[in-house]
Amino acid sequence: MTDNLKVLTKYWGKINPLRIEDYICVGGYMALEKFIFKMNPEEAILEIKKSGLRGRGGAGFPTGDKLEMVARNSPCGVNFDYKIIPTSRDTPQGKKYFICNLEESEPGTYKDRLIVDNNPHLLLEGIIISALSIEAKKAYIYINGNYEKQKEILEIAISQAKEKKYWGENILGSNYNLEIEIYSGAGAYICGEETALINSIESNRGEPKIRPPFPTEAGLFGCPTAVSNTETISNIPWIISNGGERFARIGSKNSPGTKLFILSGAVAKPGIYEAPTGINVRKLIDQYAGGIKKGKEFWFAQIGGACGKLLLEKELKAKMEFCVGTGRDLSVQMGSGSILVVDKSVNIHDLLISWTDFFRRESCGKCVPCREGTFRLWEIAKRFRDGKISDRDKTAVEDILWTLDNTTFCPLGKFAGTAFRDAITKNILTF
Ligand SMILES: Cc1cc2nc3c(=O)[nH]c(=O)nc-3n(C[C@H](O)[C@H](O)[C@H](O)COP(=O)(O)O)c2cc1C
Ligand code: SF4
Repeated sequence: MTDNLKVLTKYWGKINPLRIEDYICVGGYMALEKFIFKMNPEEAILEIKKSGLRGRGGAGFPTGDKLEMVARNSPCGVNFDYKIIPTSRDTPQGKKYFICNLEESEPGTYKDRLIVDNNPHLLLEGIIISALSIEAKKAYIYINGNYEKQKEILEIAISQAKEKKYWGENILGSNYNLEIEIYSGAGAYICGEETALINSIESNRGEPKIRPPFPTEAGLFGCPTAVSNTETISNIPWIISNGGERFARIGSKNSPGTKLFILSGAVAKPGIYEAPTGINVRKLIDQYAGGIKKGKEFWFAQIGGACGKLLLEKELKAKMEFCVGTGRDLSVQMGSGSILVVDKSVNIHDLLISWTDFFRRESCGKCVPCREGTFRLWEIAKRFRDGKISDRDKTAVEDILWTLDNTTFCPLGKFAGTAFRDAITKNILTF
């Protein structure tokens, strides 16, 4: 497989995203037809499992396994152990749900938005196949409240697809039925976390829920639910059309496929690039993003968003993967796939304030270590910038970073101090 293989961006700029006919002309909805007429749900899930596709929302959980778990769980109301609290918006009896996560509040990350801008029907086709494969009768698209334009694009795509009978009742004349609803959040980072997202759709406060039960057992309205990222889902039509084994041969063995990488900061050609997983950071910077911007000197790169690790020049050979299996020491957790290149003219104290301020604002406040810890780190970062840092602050930073890492309720708190810690341990920050 070459670096040029495009699973997600092949038709970007080549078809009109607002015309379903354009998508159909390039083979769109053929995967759905194959699913409906030539496969059963188990076969579709098996193909996705064979592909080795891992979730692109950050954690890299195997998508086929997640769909299989929901498919195997009884719909709620049937042999159901957990307490169900039905709301007036929906009745959970006999249901399963599929949710497309289009929250995307991660700083420097806009890949899911561009998928909708450029090829909304690819996403829609992936949603329909995924939902039908777990026998969900309803799919939600949970969209960031700031993505107004993308909501309009999706509304157009959804209505065009309904006219063609790609969703609704008796899809393409079959016995499959599916309802699709767009649900707009308020643009809170924590609502991208799947249990907070579920809370938000249920009209509850947007904060994470305790696990277990996992959403695959008791998710939306207490029913088995699969939540998948927008980029993850957009791979499904290709996998169904071309087969899981072919997908598994692309990119890295332990996290196959292509990935959308977003390069920003001091690079000559900032933007979004589709490349095979397992590619190293240096290649992405030099060959895809045109190298370091003229007149700038590389300092470090932050991988995977605000909670991502910092890499020094000597570490740029690290492969972008969901660090599993062999070769772990040479890999870096790619998270959302964003790479922020920081040059030596950047004021590290300002950057520190920006990181800590982000987590201070986005902490949902449910647990004390994160609510207080992120706030205190931000205060210390400001004192650092103003030259008022004391020995007590230095000890406090160590305590707070440990507390965030070990005692917070959800990954937002756990990783809120990652960049701060890396800045200290890698001598980026003189502490
Ligand atoms: C603080 C926080 C924010 C998150 N934001 C997003 C997001 O914007 N989009 C997303 O797909 N996943 C996000 N996730 C991950 C989701 O919880 C979930 O793992 C993901 O949607 C599952 O999809 P995937 O298996 O396709 O990756 C976030 C997780 C955390 C802890
Ligand atoms: S770690 Fe932070 S974001 Fe997560 S539940 Fe606690 S307060 Fe909320």
